Amino acid sequence: MKDHPARERWRQVGSDAPREEYFRLLREAVVEFYLADPTNPYQQSGRSSGAQRWEETRRVFVRAIHRSGDFLDVGCANGLLLDTLIAWAAEEGFLLRPHGLDLVPELVELARQRFPGREDCFAVANAFYWTHKRQYDFVRTNLEYVPESDWIPFLRCQYAAVAPGGRLIVGHYRNPDERWVDVAAVVERAGFAVSGRADAPISIAWIDAQEIAAYHPLAADCFRTWPRQKT
Ligand SMILES: C[S@@+](CC[C@H](N)C(=O)[O-])C[C@H]1O[C@@H](n2cnc3c(N)ncnc32)[C@H](O)[C@@H]1O
Repeated sequence: MKDHPARERWRQVGSDAPREEYFRLLREAVVEFYLADPTNPYQQSGRSSGAQRWEETRRVFVRAIHRSGDFLDVGCANGLLLDTLIAWAAEEGFLLRPHGLDLVPELVELARQRFPGREDCFAVANAFYWTHKRQYDFVRTNLEYVPESDWIPFLRCQYAAVAPGGRLIVGHYRNPDERWVDVAAVVERAGFAVSGRADAPISIAWIDAQEIAAYHPLAADCFRTWPRQKT
Protein backbone atom coordinates (compact mmCIF):
# COMPACT_ATOMS: atom_id res chain seq x y z
CA MET A 1 0.00 0.00 0.00
CA LYS A 2 2.83 2.33 1.01
CA ASP A 3 4.84 1.81 -2.20
CA HIS A 4 2.03 1.76 -4.73
CA PRO A 5 -1.09 3.35 -3.25
CA ALA A 6 -2.73 3.97 -6.62
CA ARG A 7 -2.24 0.35 -7.67
CA GLU A 8 -3.77 -0.76 -4.37
CA ARG A 9 -6.77 1.52 -4.96
CA TRP A 10 -7.26 0.02 -8.42
CA ARG A 11 -6.97 -3.55 -7.12
CA GLN A 12 -9.66 -2.77 -4.54
CA VAL A 13 -12.06 -1.33 -7.11
CA GLY A 14 -15.41 -3.16 -6.94
CA SER A 15 -16.88 -4.90 -9.98
CA ASP A 16 -19.81 -2.51 -9.67
CA ALA A 17 -17.62 0.62 -9.81
CA PRO A 18 -18.78 3.22 -12.34
CA ARG A 19 -16.90 2.82 -15.61
CA GLU A 20 -15.20 6.23 -15.53
CA GLU A 21 -14.08 5.65 -11.95
CA TYR A 22 -12.60 2.32 -13.06
CA PHE A 23 -10.67 3.97 -15.90
CA ARG A 24 -9.46 6.81 -13.64
CA LEU A 25 -8.08 4.40 -11.03
CA LEU A 26 -6.58 2.15 -13.70
CA ARG A 27 -4.79 5.05 -15.38
CA GLU A 28 -3.44 6.35 -12.04
CA ALA A 29 -2.17 2.87 -11.14
CA VAL A 30 -0.39 2.48 -14.49
CA VAL A 31 1.22 5.92 -14.32
CA GLU A 32 2.39 5.34 -10.75
CA PHE A 33 4.06 1.98 -11.41
CA TYR A 34 5.05 1.90 -15.09
CA LEU A 35 6.66 5.34 -15.15
CA ALA A 36 8.40 5.08 -11.76
CA ASP A 37 11.70 3.70 -13.07
CA PRO A 38 12.76 5.03 -16.49
CA THR A 39 15.69 2.60 -16.53
CA ASN A 40 13.51 -0.52 -16.37
CA PRO A 41 11.77 -1.38 -19.69
CA TYR A 42 10.05 -4.37 -18.07
CA GLN A 43 8.46 -2.17 -15.43
CA GLN A 44 7.35 0.19 -18.22
CA SER A 45 5.37 -2.80 -19.50
CA GLY A 46 3.97 -3.71 -16.10
CA ARG A 47 6.45 -6.35 -14.95
CA SER A 48 9.53 -5.31 -13.01
CA SER A 49 11.18 -8.72 -12.65
CA GLY A 50 13.40 -8.73 -15.72
CA ALA A 51 14.08 -10.57 -18.97
CA GLN A 52 13.72 -14.16 -17.78
CA ARG A 53 10.33 -13.68 -16.11
CA TRP A 54 9.23 -11.57 -19.07
CA GLU A 55 9.92 -14.41 -21.48
CA GLU A 56 8.34 -16.98 -19.14
CA THR A 57 5.09 -15.03 -19.07
CA ARG A 58 4.95 -13.59 -22.59
CA ARG A 59 6.43 -16.09 -25.06
CA VAL A 60 3.17 -18.03 -24.80
CA PHE A 61 1.61 -15.56 -27.26
CA VAL A 62 3.70 -17.07 -30.07
CA ARG A 63 1.42 -20.10 -29.88
CA ALA A 64 -1.38 -17.95 -31.27
CA ILE A 65 0.65 -16.75 -34.28
CA HIS A 66 -0.23 -18.73 -37.41
CA ARG A 67 0.82 -16.31 -40.17
CA SER A 68 2.76 -13.14 -40.88
CA GLY A 69 0.93 -9.82 -40.74
CA ASP A 70 -0.08 -6.69 -38.88
CA PHE A 71 -0.22 -7.13 -35.11
CA LEU A 72 -2.09 -4.64 -32.93
CA ASP A 73 -1.19 -4.76 -29.24
CA VAL A 74 -4.05 -3.13 -27.36
CA GLY A 75 -2.50 -1.73 -24.18
CA CYS A 76 0.97 -1.74 -25.77
CA ALA A 77 2.64 0.16 -22.89
CA ASN A 78 6.24 0.91 -24.00
CA GLY A 79 6.06 -1.56 -26.91
CA LEU A 80 8.21 -4.25 -25.28
CA LEU A 81 5.74 -7.06 -25.97
CA LEU A 82 5.63 -6.14 -29.65
CA ASP A 83 9.42 -5.95 -29.79
CA THR A 84 10.00 -9.34 -28.17
CA LEU A 85 7.09 -11.03 -29.94
CA ILE A 86 8.44 -9.92 -33.31
CA ALA A 87 11.72 -11.70 -32.48
CA TRP A 88 10.04 -14.84 -31.11
CA ALA A 89 7.64 -15.07 -34.08
CA ALA A 90 10.57 -14.63 -36.49
CA GLU A 91 12.09 -17.79 -35.00
CA GLU A 92 8.94 -19.56 -36.24
CA GLY A 93 9.24 -17.96 -39.67
CA PHE A 94 6.58 -15.23 -39.23
CA LEU A 95 7.05 -11.51 -39.85
CA LEU A 96 4.92 -9.25 -37.65
CA ARG A 97 4.40 -5.53 -38.27
CA PRO A 98 3.82 -3.69 -34.97
CA HIS A 99 0.85 -1.46 -34.09
CA GLY A 100 -0.21 -0.31 -30.66
CA LEU A 101 -2.55 1.78 -28.61
CA ASP A 102 -2.52 2.72 -24.97
CA LEU A 103 -4.28 4.96 -22.48
CA VAL A 104 -1.10 6.64 -21.28
CA PRO A 105 0.60 9.17 -23.62
CA GLU A 106 4.05 8.78 -22.03
CA LEU A 107 3.98 5.03 -22.75
CA VAL A 108 2.83 5.51 -26.34
CA GLU A 109 5.73 7.94 -26.79
CA LEU A 110 8.15 5.25 -25.57
CA ALA A 111 6.59 2.71 -27.96
CA ARG A 112 6.99 5.18 -30.83
CA GLN A 113 10.66 5.69 -29.94
CA ARG A 114 11.12 1.91 -29.98
CA PHE A 115 9.88 1.67 -33.58
CA PRO A 116 11.38 4.59 -35.55
CA GLY A 117 9.55 5.16 -38.82
CA ARG A 118 6.38 3.53 -37.50
CA GLU A 119 5.31 6.36 -35.17
CA ASP A 120 1.95 6.63 -36.97
CA CYS A 121 1.14 3.03 -36.07
CA PHE A 122 0.79 3.98 -32.37
CA ALA A 123 -2.07 5.89 -30.83
CA VAL A 124 -3.18 7.22 -27.46
CA ALA A 125 -6.69 5.88 -26.85
CA ASN A 126 -8.90 4.15 -24.36
CA ALA A 127 -9.62 0.79 -26.02
CA PHE A 128 -13.17 0.92 -24.73
CA TYR A 129 -13.97 4.02 -26.81
CA TRP A 130 -11.52 3.37 -29.64
CA THR A 131 -12.97 2.60 -33.08
CA HIS A 132 -10.78 0.76 -35.57
CA LYS A 133 -10.05 2.54 -38.85
CA ARG A 134 -8.56 -0.57 -40.44
CA GLN A 135 -8.26 -4.25 -39.64
CA TYR A 136 -5.32 -6.25 -38.36
CA ASP A 137 -4.18 -9.84 -38.76
CA PHE A 138 -3.83 -10.01 -34.99
CA VAL A 139 -5.46 -7.97 -32.27
CA ARG A 140 -4.18 -8.77 -28.78
CA THR A 141 -6.11 -7.43 -25.83
CA ASN A 142 -6.84 -7.99 -22.13
CA LEU A 143 -10.12 -8.32 -20.26
CA GLU A 144 -9.02 -6.25 -17.28
CA TYR A 145 -8.80 -3.15 -19.49
CA VAL A 146 -12.52 -2.64 -18.88
CA PRO A 147 -14.89 -3.30 -15.95
CA GLU A 148 -16.12 -6.89 -15.82
CA SER A 149 -19.64 -5.86 -16.78
CA ASP A 150 -18.22 -4.63 -20.12
CA TRP A 151 -16.16 -7.72 -20.96
CA ILE A 152 -18.61 -9.26 -23.45
CA PRO A 153 -19.39 -6.18 -25.58
CA PHE A 154 -15.72 -5.17 -25.37
CA LEU A 155 -14.61 -8.53 -26.85
CA ARG A 156 -17.15 -8.26 -29.65
CA CYS A 157 -15.83 -4.85 -30.64
CA GLN A 158 -12.21 -5.90 -30.41
CA TYR A 159 -13.09 -8.81 -32.71
CA ALA A 160 -14.47 -6.36 -35.26
CA ALA A 161 -10.93 -5.03 -35.76
CA VAL A 162 -9.59 -8.43 -36.93
CA ALA A 163 -9.11 -9.11 -40.65
CA PRO A 164 -10.63 -12.26 -42.19
CA GLY A 165 -8.36 -15.21 -41.43
CA GLY A 166 -6.77 -13.27 -38.57
CA ARG A 167 -7.04 -13.79 -34.84
CA LEU A 168 -8.25 -12.00 -31.76
CA ILE A 169 -5.99 -12.97 -28.86
CA VAL A 170 -7.42 -12.31 -25.41
CA GLY A 171 -5.62 -12.41 -22.09
CA HIS A 172 -6.18 -11.72 -18.44
CA TYR A 173 -3.23 -10.85 -16.21
CA ARG A 174 -3.43 -11.05 -12.45
CA ASN A 175 -1.28 -10.93 -9.36
CA PRO A 176 -0.74 -14.23 -7.51
CA ASP A 177 -3.27 -13.25 -4.84
CA GLU A 178 -5.98 -12.35 -7.36
CA ARG A 179 -8.61 -14.70 -8.76
CA TRP A 180 -7.78 -16.71 -11.89
CA VAL A 181 -10.05 -15.88 -14.82
CA ASP A 182 -10.82 -18.55 -17.42
CA VAL A 183 -10.47 -16.37 -20.53
CA ALA A 184 -11.65 -19.14 -22.87
CA ALA A 185 -14.91 -19.39 -20.91
CA VAL A 186 -15.44 -15.63 -21.22
CA VAL A 187 -14.77 -15.86 -24.98
CA GLU A 188 -17.42 -18.59 -25.24
CA ARG A 189 -19.86 -16.53 -23.19
CA ALA A 190 -19.34 -13.75 -25.73
CA GLY A 191 -20.58 -16.22 -28.37
CA PHE A 192 -17.29 -17.07 -30.09
CA ALA A 193 -15.69 -20.45 -30.70
CA VAL A 194 -12.31 -20.79 -29.00
CA SER A 195 -9.62 -21.73 -31.52
CA GLY A 196 -6.85 -22.14 -28.98
CA ARG A 197 -6.02 -21.49 -25.37
CA ALA A 198 -3.23 -21.56 -22.80
CA ASP A 199 -3.86 -21.64 -19.07
CA ALA A 200 -0.32 -21.15 -17.82
CA PRO A 201 1.67 -19.11 -17.08
CA ILE A 202 -1.16 -16.73 -18.01
CA SER A 203 -4.71 -17.32 -19.12
CA ILE A 204 -5.16 -16.58 -22.82
CA ALA A 205 -7.50 -17.71 -25.59
CA TRP A 206 -7.80 -16.87 -29.25
CA ILE A 207 -10.57 -16.67 -31.81
CA ASP A 208 -10.26 -17.13 -35.58
CA ALA A 209 -11.98 -14.44 -37.62
CA GLN A 210 -13.42 -16.61 -40.35
CA GLU A 211 -15.42 -13.97 -42.11
CA ILE A 212 -15.50 -10.24 -42.51
CA ALA A 213 -15.74 -9.36 -38.85
CA ALA A 214 -18.12 -6.45 -39.32
CA TYR A 215 -20.65 -8.91 -40.79
CA HIS A 216 -20.38 -11.35 -37.90
CA PRO A 217 -23.69 -11.03 -36.05
CA LEU A 218 -21.95 -10.54 -32.70
CA ALA A 219 -19.51 -7.93 -33.96
CA ALA A 220 -22.17 -6.21 -36.04
CA ASP A 221 -24.09 -5.73 -32.81
CA CYS A 222 -21.24 -3.64 -31.48
CA PHE A 223 -21.59 -1.17 -34.34
CA ARG A 224 -25.19 -0.55 -33.30
CA THR A 225 -24.74 -0.38 -29.54
CA TRP A 226 -21.15 0.52 -28.76
CA PRO A 227 -20.32 3.99 -27.47
CA ARG A 228 -18.11 4.87 -30.43
CA GLN A 229 -17.06 8.13 -28.92
CA LYS A 230 -17.02 9.13 -25.30
CA THR A 231 -19.52 11.96 -24.96
C1 LIG B 1 0.14 -5.12 -18.46
S1 LIG B 1 0.41 -3.80 -19.61
C2 LIG B 1 0.45 -4.74 -21.09
C3 LIG B 1 1.75 -4.58 -21.84
C4 LIG B 1 1.86 -5.57 -22.99
N1 LIG B 1 0.81 -5.35 -23.95
C5 LIG B 1 1.76 -6.99 -22.46
O1 LIG B 1 0.76 -7.67 -22.75
O2 LIG B 1 2.67 -7.40 -21.78
C6 LIG B 1 -1.18 -3.03 -19.69
C7 LIG B 1 -1.21 -1.75 -20.52
O3 LIG B 1 -2.54 -1.57 -20.96
C8 LIG B 1 -2.90 -0.23 -20.89
N2 LIG B 1 -4.36 -0.17 -20.75
C9 LIG B 1 -5.11 -0.61 -19.71
N3 LIG B 1 -6.42 -0.38 -19.93
C10 LIG B 1 -6.49 0.20 -21.16
C11 LIG B 1 -7.57 0.69 -21.94
N4 LIG B 1 -8.85 0.62 -21.52
N5 LIG B 1 -7.28 1.23 -23.15
C12 LIG B 1 -6.01 1.33 -23.59
N6 LIG B 1 -4.94 0.90 -22.87
C13 LIG B 1 -5.18 0.34 -21.67
C14 LIG B 1 -2.15 0.30 -19.69
O4 LIG B 1 -1.96 1.71 -19.78
C15 LIG B 1 -0.85 -0.49 -19.76
O5 LIG B 1 0.13 0.22 -20.44
